[in-house]
Amino acid sequence: MVPDSDDDRYAGFPPGFFDRVDDSPDSDFYFEPRLVTHIDNEAITAVGVLYRELRLEGTVLDLMGSWVSHFLDVPTQLIVLGMNATELMQNDQAASWVQHDLNDDPRLPFEDASFDAVVCCVSVDYLVRPLEVFDEARRCLKRGGVFVNTFSNRCFPTKAIQGWGQTDDRGHIAIVGEYFRRSGGWVDLHAELRTESSGRGDPLYAVWGYKE
Ligand SMILES: C[S@@+](CC[C@H](N)C(=O)[O-])C[C@H]1O[C@@H](n2cnc3c(N)ncnc32)[C@H](O)[C@@H]1O
Repeated sequence: MVPDSDDDRYAGFPPGFFDRVDDSPDSDFYFEPRLVTHIDNEAITAVGVLYRELRLEGTVLDLMGSWVSHFLDVPTQLIVLGMNATELMQNDQAASWVQHDLNDDPRLPFEDASFDAVVCCVSVDYLVRPLEVFDEARRCLKRGGVFVNTFSNRCFPTKAIQGWGQTDDRGHIAIVGEYFRRSGGWVDLHAELRTESSGRGDPLYAVWGYKE
């Protein structure tokens, strides 16, 4: 389900940007649970430290989640949305979870203004209709709520969009910034490297913004 060519908001992304090597349904790829971590411990800690710094609390949505959500301070109510039920039911920070394929249907099954924060960790690169998902994150956020995207330089290469695989870390920051800009209705955008720049481990980048 790549973007329609008549959707103006996607104009300017090069042809094939949102194509993937493996275009089969995501439900096939994520059928088997992967009870692993996708970034190293320092990067995981950097995610939790950022969430703490941003004071994420209340009702929070973890988009494209699995069995770990990386919070140091668990929100009052954490809802995790992802592809694999076995992974999701093992997430001990989650109050509840939802199995939902955002590439099949980018609409989020939640009420307007129902979350204080939305997070998406090491997964934004798999979205083939990211602007619709960003629209939906904004719709589901309360005014002033934050949407936090974190990512590293690792991915499932056959499932990431081609545009992601064809650029570097700076390019990835620009891509996520562009999603915020094009979806619109966000203010106070930030982009930061959250791990040591001299470190040898996985870098952890974060791009976040607030619902206007
Ligand atoms: C690299 S893992 C990251 C998992 C978790 N966020 C973390 O920090 O460990 C990618 C995650 O994206 C989710 N995902 C991939 N494609 C998806 C889709 N089309 N819709 C919803 N979630 C998806 C998968 O369920 C998987 O848990």
